[in-house]
Amino acid sequence: MLNKIIDAPITSQKAQRLYDFLSPFYDYLTRYERLSKAKGLAVAEIRRGHIVLEVGFGTGQTLIASALKVGNEGQVYGIDLSPRMLEKTRKRVKKLALTKRVDLQLGDARQLPYKENVFDVLFNSYMLDLIDTPELTTVLTEFERVLKPGGRLVLVNLSKGENWYSNMKLYEWIYSKCPSLLGGCRPVLTKAFLEELGFQKVKREIIFAGHIIPSEIVWGNKPK
Ligand SMILES: C[S@@+](CC[C@H](N)C(=O)[O-])C[C@H]1O[C@@H](n2cnc3c(N)ncnc32)[C@H](O)[C@@H]1O
Repeated sequence: MLNKIIDAPITSQKAQRLYDFLSPFYDYLTRYERLSKAKGLAVAEIRRGHIVLEVGFGTGQTLIASALKVGNEGQVYGIDLSPRMLEKTRKRVKKLALTKRVDLQLGDARQLPYKENVFDVLFNSYMLDLIDTPELTTVLTEFERVLKPGGRLVLVNLSKGENWYSNMKLYEWIYSKCPSLLGGCRPVLTKAFLEELGFQKVKREIIFAGHIIPSEIVWGNKPK
């Protein structure tokens, strides 16, 4: 499974510039992904009082949903590479009077500025599909480090199905010619990585966005 992922030659500087540029239209461009993210949030099982981290929060759609779930007793942290995405999400959080329970900052998923064993839930959507294959383990090891023992990791990403129309060969060909045209995102298969890192009860579900492009929701728990 691991060798079925194509390379993602996009650097973090390029990803930052691309998402700064995309921030004004991002919500419109990604409206088909609402269903997969809603499923991701459902399996995250975020409750009142939870401490949640979202890495690569973009325009803050799911981060705000998490902030509403944790209530006043909980806290949601967010980190993203793009200053424009940070600015946009900060404005939204302020407008909804959620600033007390939300802490946002700029940063890179490869080196998280948080202590180990802090978070009940770590949510990450459509960001690993930008991370080059050799670095996926680095990022997922960071996710595992900051989760509490027993904490839940939820990943939502572009992926591949088994049928001719969902094996993403055409998408991957276009990606190999011009990654930025596709937001730098290529399909990934993350379940085997989580199993290799020792996550428990790892599950995978596929949801079709726009009826032909598969997204995977993969989740599991850090061992207690
Ligand atoms: C495709 S968008 C997904 C945004 C949001 N999670 C969603 O699903 O709507 C990818 C986001 O991840 C951020 N990002 C990309 N690489 C990152 C990295 N290495 N560390 C942190 N954030 C990153 C981008 O700036 C962008 O906001």
